[in-house]
Amino acid sequence: RTQILLIILCVLVLLSTGLWSFLPRSCRCLALDCPCSHSGLSSVPSVPAQTRTLDLDYNQITEIQRQDLGSLWELRVLTIHANRLTRIDPRAFSGLWNLKELDLSQNLLSALDHHWFNRLGALEILKLHRNPYKCLGSRPLFQSLVRLRVLSFGGDSLEDVRVSDLRGVGRLERLRVDANGLKRYDSGALAQIWPLDHVTLSLRSPFALNQTLASALLHDVSDPQTHLTLENLNLSSNRSVLPLREAAQRRVRHISFHNVFVTDATTVKLLEVTDGAPITSISLSNSTLSGVGSWEKARWTDHMSLDEVFVKDIVLLNNFEFTAFLSLSFLLQFPRKISLINTKVFVTPCLNLEFFDLSENLLTDMTLTETLCAGAGVLKGLRVLNISANAIKSLSLISRMVTRLTKLTHLDISRNSLTFMPQSCPWPQSLRFLNMSRTKFTSATSCLPPTLQVLDLSYNDLERLLVVLPALRELHLSGNKLLTLPPGWLFPNLQTLTVQMNTLNVFTHSDLVSFPRLQNFQAGLNKFSCSCDFVPFFQSLSDGEINITLTDGIHNYFCDSPLHLQGAPLSLVRRSFSECRHVLLVSICCGLVLVFLTCLGVVLWKVHAFWYLEMIFVWLRAKQKRRKRERKRREDGDTEDRPLVTFDAFVSYSERDSAWVDNYLLPELEPEPRPEPRPEPGPDSGPGPEPLRLCLHRRDFLPGRWIMDNIVIAIESSRRTLFVLSHNFVRSDWCKYELDFTHFQCLEGNCREDAAILVLLEPLHHDDVPKRFCRLRRLLTSTTYLQWPQDPDLRGQFWTSLRQALSPDQDQD
Ligand SMILES: *[C@@H]1O[C@H](CO)[C@@H](O)[C@H](O)[C@H]1NC(C)=O
Ligand SMILES: *[C@@H]1O[C@H](CO)[C@@H](O)[C@H](O)[C@H]1NC(C)=O
Ligand SMILES: *[C@@H]1O[C@H](CO)[C@@H](O)[C@H](O)[C@H]1NC(C)=O
Ligand SMILES: *[C@@H]1O[C@H](CO)[C@@H](O)[C@H](O)[C@H]1NC(C)=O
Ligand SMILES: *[C@@H]1O[C@H](CO)[C@@H](O)[C@H](O)[C@H]1NC(C)=O
Ligand SMILES: *[C@@H]1O[C@H](CO)[C@@H](O)[C@H](O)[C@H]1NC(C)=O
Ligand SMILES: *[C@@H]1O[C@H](CO)[C@@H](O)[C@H](O)[C@H]1NC(C)=O
Repeated sequence: RTQILLIILCVLVLLSTGLWSFLPRSCRCLALDCPCSHSGLSSVPSVPAQTRTLDLDYNQITEIQRQDLGSLWELRVLTIHANRLTRIDPRAFSGLWNLKELDLSQNLLSALDHHWFNRLGALEILKLHRNPYKCLGSRPLFQSLVRLRVLSFGGDSLEDVRVSDLRGVGRLERLRVDANGLKRYDSGALAQIWPLDHVTLSLRSPFALNQTLASALLHDVSDPQTHLTLENLNLSSNRSVLPLREAAQRRVRHISFHNVFVTDATTVKLLEVTDGAPITSISLSNSTLSGVGSWEKARWTDHMSLDEVFVKDIVLLNNFEFTAFLSLSFLLQFPRKISLINTKVFVTPCLNLEFFDLSENLLTDMTLTETLCAGAGVLKGLRVLNISANAIKSLSLISRMVTRLTKLTHLDISRNSLTFMPQSCPWPQSLRFLNMSRTKFTSATSCLPPTLQVLDLSYNDLERLLVVLPALRELHLSGNKLLTLPPGWLFPNLQTLTVQMNTLNVFTHSDLVSFPRLQNFQAGLNKFSCSCDFVPFFQSLSDGEINITLTDGIHNYFCDSPLHLQGAPLSLVRRSFSECRHVLLVSICCGLVLVFLTCLGVVLWKVHAFWYLEMIFVWLRAKQKRRKRERKRREDGDTEDRPLVTFDAFVSYSERDSAWVDNYLLPELEPEPRPEPRPEPGPDSGPGPEPLRLCLHRRDFLPGRWIMDNIVIAIESSRRTLFVLSHNFVRSDWCKYELDFTHFQCLEGNCREDAAILVLLEPLHHDDVPKRFCRLRRLLTSTTYLQWPQDPDLRGQFWTSLRQALSPDQDQD
């Protein structure tokens, strides 16, 4: 049965997953934005009707049906880049009157339909490139797109561009045509678009195979105002360079090559072809040069108009034979701006430039000296020098090389392994901008030029910065090891300060206001200690209470401590009163507890609790000792059940009343010479008043034994306890113990009702007895007591009564 159940379960799981993949998956929209890229969608999801932006890039959508987008009147941007679109309903976009941008690039559309764009009068940006259509269609596609500014079309399959294809397209800012496989081009097809700001043409096979065709194309788009970019060219044959003559003749001024393959021979050819052309800026990026840089054959050519050369990310196939640009000075003498970025340059000829970017190359201390003409001041006009990310090690060398460049304002020496900063360095007076980020400095000294306005020292190992820079407006110190902000008086003109990713715990109001002009502040991603002072200050800062803006956004600020707040966004943290004022709180609590304890103490003292406690303690101890005694006795083999009672009465009296006891009590009750201590009680009956055995502490207590034990034993071994009450008695503590022990014994159940006998030596009202002796007070009110008569005649009666009360016969009753 379990097998059947399992099978059913499997079937259910399969069904549900199958259903799940068939269901149109939706995406989450944020307000009017629906960012649904990379969502695995296989069809257009349904989104709210007010949606403005719908991003469906990188999904698996194959088809757009008529109703998919029908109701999105408000849609402004629709991008379906990199999907699998093969079919779009002719009227799919007919409701999108407000659409400004439509991206259908990198799909599988094998034909374009002019119906799609009929209603898109507001469209400004249309991207159709990288689709496998062969031509743009039989009817002009773009006629109704009167506002079009940016257009891209083509793909590796595009073979044919006709005159009518671009009819209706007027002024464009940017045009991109991917025509790597173009076979047929009607002259003038692109000429109608005029003027163009930027045109990008990808023309691999026209340049390689049909230069006539490429020339015709370049003829149509080239213009002095147009920035021409050519991509994906293989200029390995002399012929392939020829179309560029057309561009040169059309007086193109800005030309860029991207992703191009060239050789020494074709470079020479290119220089020849463009001889005398007014090209002012030339750019070459992500390209491969197969050659050694021997271009002297073109030395005769004229490129005087060349003003700006930008070369970036070049692969030199013969890197080690490359002549290191030294032989290129004939070409490089004209431009004012040269960028040779990531091109494995290790040395350049001494050039007179205004802007020189040699970042991400192989310059060393030695070759830098040559490149900068040994600091002789030849590069008099140099304003910007960028030698970021090279292999330079000495900061003092750099400063010596540039110190005579009297116009130098920007110097970027970031990402070198400089490490050591000398105490002082010569700098040109003109220097305003210095980038020293990621240079491994551990300390900053007064080597820093005081003329600086912008200083980037981020991502070093600085622990402090104590250099006066009076002109500084921007200071970047992110990624260091600062524990505190640098003091503001060092930078009286500072407006921007970034100290992200340091080890700052807090910054205070006085820290910030010590910078008189600070406006922009970035300190996120530090390990903030969310103390009770810092949190409210930070929140007041982010609320704009101080004239300083946290330009990196409050979402970059997190607590690191205390532990329970670690990782919490600082702007949302709330510290409660109890957390923040805990010193105060603890002292209040302690005070309260102290007051309470004092009150309690006073109260307890008032009710004599301590006295009672002491009493109980003493009693318990005495009892414990007694038990021990008994155990010992039993262990000694004394199994005989010795009767405990050996006295008729234990007399409890105050020492001050001992006269009465000695003079009256003893002679009366123990008239005979005292019997042996603790004799065996026997039926010792004789004529006359029988002598009683009294226990007197003075006489019968064992010396050397603890007095409490003595009392307890005495009480236990006496039949009764006779209390001789007087004011002295009330004042004596020992007597009180004795009284109370009797009471305790009664509580334990081994005493009799009349175990206590009271004799009043003097009239004693129960109010005379202190309140804590409640037992005595109660006895005085409840029990009858014997009053010692002052009149000697009445004493006979007293003794009779006392004797009777004490007599052992009473027990038998
Ligand atoms: C080169 O292109 C032109 C213009 O489209 C065409 O007339 C010519 O036949 C092509 N030549 C070759 C060899 O394909
Ligand atoms: C360019 O073409 C030549 C021959 O025509 C070929 O050897 C070379 O590999 C090609 N280069 C690239 C980058 O396609
Ligand atoms: C290309 O032209 C140069 C002269 O400019 C010539 O030396 C070279 O042989 C030519 N190469 C080819 C393949 O025609
Ligand atoms: C750079 O060139 C390589 C071929 O050399 C190419 O594969 C790559 O896509 C290019 N990168 C860009 C950004 O064009
Ligand atoms: C220097 O070059 C680097 C890397 O190319 C770049 O990030 C930096 O902005 C450049 N600096 C200047 C001042 O142009
Ligand atoms: C300084 O150089 C670094 C790395 O080259 C760069 O990221 C940073 O933006 C530059 N700083 C400034 C202020 O331009
Ligand atoms: C805040 O800064 C602006 C300039 O950024 C200044 O005009 C304004 O007076 C400042 N306000 C205060 C209160 O300092």
